[in-house]
Amino acid sequence: MHFQWYPGHMTKAKRMMQEDMKLIDVVIELVDARIPLSSKNPDIDDMAKNKSRVILLNKYDLADEKHTESWKTYFENKGYFVTLVNSKNGNGVRKVNDVVQLACKEKIERDRKRGILNRPLRAMVVGIPNVGKSTFINSIAGKAATKTGNKPGVTKGKQWIKINKNIELLDTPGILWPKFEDQSVGLKLAYIGSIREEILNIYELSLELIRFLLVHYKSCLASRYEIEEDEDNSITLSRIAEKRGCRIKGGELDLNKAAGFVVDDFRNGRLGNITLEFPEVSDAE
Ligand code: G4P
Repeated sequence: MHFQWYPGHMTKAKRMMQEDMKLIDVVIELVDARIPLSSKNPDIDDMAKNKSRVILLNKYDLADEKHTESWKTYFENKGYFVTLVNSKNGNGVRKVNDVVQLACKEKIERDRKRGILNRPLRAMVVGIPNVGKSTFINSIAGKAATKTGNKPGVTKGKQWIKINKNIELLDTPGILWPKFEDQSVGLKLAYIGSIREEILNIYELSLELIRFLLVHYKSCLASRYEIEEDEDNSITLSRIAEKRGCRIKGGELDLNKAAGFVVDDFRNGRLGNITLEFPEVSDAE
């Protein structure tokens, strides 16, 4: 399978982000807890030099808890401040304030020594498409948050959301492009839905996903589709199609429909809590 990305969008997004970087103290980077490395674009490291760095392992509700903990340690060892977030229901979102303060501790101290007290920290959210940036911003902003800055249309100033007395957040997130020279990274991005559906072959995608799940999460497949786990080679797309009653007219199995079910079930967490890459493996790469 081949994936494409669009250089035009990339260049524009990058330029805009570089401008915004000048305005902020701390970068809040969202990654998908199911693929923390594949959903992270390393180019942000260059752009965010000298900024405090926070990583949010977002969608942790869909990932495998034990691996999420290892990923947290992995990024902490690299100097990031890390916390787990479920932007959809708000779990972990309040803690982000504390983590941002911690990440900016040195800066706050420097300001204090220079007599600058209580200057709010300025932050921006970045991440690849579909990682949950807007959901997170809505969640942390809440209803009480007030927008500050210039009115759009009057001047071209930036809009800031006042999260609390300590933090102001740029209201538009920075969009990073997924980086996937490596085909396996492209696949993982496709599983989580970060690559547009039209350019994907769901049938092939589901076969690759099933292959991975059979190795690492066989019981999740078995219980979702009510197939005996012990039988050798029993969990196949055809078997899933049978179990789900996916048939075309004439009674033949509809494998494409079954493929859609598998990918959709994974994306929505109906197969259980699944992580698609593990820090040990990435370290060895
Ligand atoms: P983006 O701005 O980075 O592009 O992402 P966005 O906020 O639009 O979120 C993409 C999808 O991910 C949305 O689902 C959103 O609800 C979901 N999402 C965001 N954060 C979390 C999380 O922590 N956990 C879970 N389980 N889902 C999360 P959608 O299917 O596009 O919309 P909807 O079905 O939620 O309406």
